[in-house]
This record gives sequence, structure tokens and C-alpha cells, in this order.
Amino acid sequence: MEKTEFRYVADSRTQQVQIVLPQHANAYKRLFGGVLMQWIDVTAAVTARRHSCFEVTTARIDMLEFVAPAYVGSTVLLDGCITHVGTTSMEVRVDTYVESLDGNRERVNRAYLVLVALDEQSNPVRVPRLTPVTQEEQDEWQAGIKRRALRKKRRVERY
Ligand SMILES: CC(C)(COP(=O)(O)OP(=O)(O)OC[C@H]1O[C@@H](n2cnc3c(N)ncnc32)[C@H](O)[C@@H]1OP(=O)(O)O)[C@@H](O)C(=O)NCCC(=O)NCCS
Repeated sequence: MEKTEFRYVADSRTQQVQIVLPQHANAYKRLFGGVLMQWIDVTAAVTARRHSCFEVTTARIDMLEFVAPAYVGSTVLLDGCITHVGTTSMEVRVDTYVESLDGNRERVNRAYLVLVALDEQSNPVRVPRLTPVTQEEQDEWQAGIKRRALRKKRRVERY
């Protein structure tokens, strides 16, 4: 894909679908949190690669909120989108849904991750700017500014 200076959220939106299998679950047939985290990490990485057109690494998983369980046999849909960009870092939100047979979706998880784009020497490299278009994208951009400031404060003050 061509490298451009400005990109839209829709340009990098990434979805992944899984069926929860027995090896993904505990004895009570609930999806392991760690398995879901792996799926979330991959979804976020592909989203960030599509935005930046560079290799990326996960710098931080900021929030991982398990709202409801998923069980063996469930169809699980992960939906990743860029919410904010810094100079070399990108914030990606990954929402996870359980989809029932009639197509209804219930959100079971929301995660925010920070990924950094790396050049061929594995040094952080500048990423394209993000142009938020919809009201939701603009709200997430504003919230992303606050989350970035909070992350910086926590790193500096070590709490
Ligand atoms: C992420 C990493 C490349 C950053 O390298 P660095 O030398 O600290 O680079 P910088 O200080 O220039 O920071 C680069 C960007 O990353 C951000 N960043 C670095 N560490 C961060 C952290 N812990 N949380 C959030 N953002 C972070 C910086 O804010 C900066 O963002 P910006 O350019 O948008 O302002 C480096 O810390 C690293 O390789 N970490 C290990 C990542 C990894 O292995 N992940 C997989 C885990 S199994």
C-alpha cells in the first residue's frame, strides 16, 4: 500500500473472527483471558501496520476490560481501529464481540494498546497523521489526547 502523510481510520480498520475451541478455554468452558489477549494483540498489530506501513511493536497494553465471558462454541469478532497517533506511536482500540447465530453482537471486551512503528534498524519512525472524520472518531481522538497525557504522567511518576 502507498505511504501517505494523512490517513483515515477506515484505511486501517482490521477485523478478525474466531470460534472458541476447547483448547482456548478453561475447565468451565470459558475463553482464557490470555488467549483473547493474543488475538487482541495480533488485531492491533495489523491495524497499526496498515496505518503506518511499517513493522510495529507493542509498547503498552493500557486497558483490557473483560465485560462478559465467551464460551466454547462462541463466534468471536475482534474489531481494531486507530484512535490516536503521536509521532512514532499509535493508539489502537480493539473491541471484542460475541456474535450469536442470528447475527446479534454483544461486546465482551475493550482494549487500548500503544504500538510503535519501527524502521529497518528497529528505531522508532514517524507515522502518518490521522484524520478523524466521524463524531465517534473525533471523540476518540480527544479522549486519546487525555489517555496519552495520563500515560506520560504515570510513566514519569511511576504509579
Ligand atoms: C517501544 C520501544 C520501541 C520504544 O523505544 P524507545 O527507545 O523508548 O523510543 P522513544 O522513547 O523514542 O519512544 C517512541 C514512542 O514510543 C512511546 N512509548 C515508549 N514507551 C512507551 C510505553 N511504555 N508506553 C506508551 N508509549 C511508549 C513514546 O511515547 C514515543 O511515542 P511518540 O513518538 O508518539 O511520542 C521500546 O521500548 C521497545 O522495543 N520495547 C519493547 C517492545 C516489545 O518487545 N514488545 C513486545 C512485547 S512481547
